[in-house]
Amino acid sequence: MTTARQTTSAANAGATQSAPALEVRGLIWHTGRSAILRGLDLSVRAGERMALIGPNGAGKTSLFNLISGRVAPTAGAICLNGQRIDGKKPHQIHRMGLARSFQITHLFARLSVFENLRVAALGASGQGYALWRALARLPAVNARAETLLHSVQLQARRDTPAGELTHAQQRALELGVTLAGNAHTILLDEPTAGMSQSETGHFMALIRALTAGKTLLMVEHDMNVVFGLADRIAVLANGALLACDTPQAVRADARVRQAYLGPLPDADAGADADAAIPTTAATNVQRAGRPC
Ligand SMILES: Nc1ncnc2c1ncn2[C@@H]1O[C@H](COP(=O)(O)OP(=O)(O)OP(=O)(O)O)[C@@H](O)[C@H]1O
Ligand SMILES: [Mg+2]
Repeated sequence: MTTARQTTSAANAGATQSAPALEVRGLIWHTGRSAILRGLDLSVRAGERMALIGPNGAGKTSLFNLISGRVAPTAGAICLNGQRIDGKKPHQIHRMGLARSFQITHLFARLSVFENLRVAALGASGQGYALWRALARLPAVNARAETLLHSVQLQARRDTPAGELTHAQQRALELGVTLAGNAHTILLDEPTAGMSQSETGHFMALIRALTAGKTLLMVEHDMNVVFGLADRIAVLANGALLACDTPQAVRADARVRQAYLGPLPDADAGADADAAIPTTAATNVQRAGRPC
């Protein structure tokens, strides 16, 4: 029987050979007196699905904020397909093909599902919101919104205000909004947080289908999602990269287990490597400084 993990690996087999779509070099971010990111090197290959994991407060969302241009780094470089993007505005980076979702839902609660997708499709069309331009582009924008509606499987909720959707449906709608511009590089911040097990399974399938062929960097705390979807896993702790490797290698990494995953249930790591992995917070992780 083919497992989800095998399907993922096969679909992204080419990713292991390709050039970086997203590259972070020596990234430092200080805010006030706090050093949030402390010299991060990370490289996500084109077409790869990388999970970014680590304890609460490790700096995962901060890294997304820097990559997507919400905040500027204190030092270091961020490249998208070989072009520097650090210091650029979020809309410029978005236009260069990078889209992100947020840890907390960002939808227009009173607008319907379709209207939310239409606003996203209009924004992604690059025409802005000037009324005359919007009207001129309406057929194409409507068609794009319709496609997105089907992609995220919310046809039955087309006219429902976003604020009345279930949490899982809101996250699906957000995924549609994130994908509206057909970005080649997608950042998802805890996409399955707060979902039931069955909702998570459905959402994993949605992510897998809708990001096929794209580059994905995904923050997740649910280890079933991480190990089910990721080609590689980067582990962040105290603003530095602790490890970045295949799921098997990360699972067996003693420092990662100590910092985040918790101990194996048996001393023989090889025999029990597939055992359930608890999510625990780190207390005292030293910077490893290992590039990825
Ligand atoms: N704008 C800011 N100003 C000051 N401190 C900040 C700011 N943004 C984040 N931080 C701090 O940076 C650290 C990392 O926060 P971040 O949100 O990036 O963590 P995270 O890894 O995403 O955690 P979680 O898993 O809980 O979402 C935290 O200590 C947080 O309080
Ligand atoms: Mg976060």
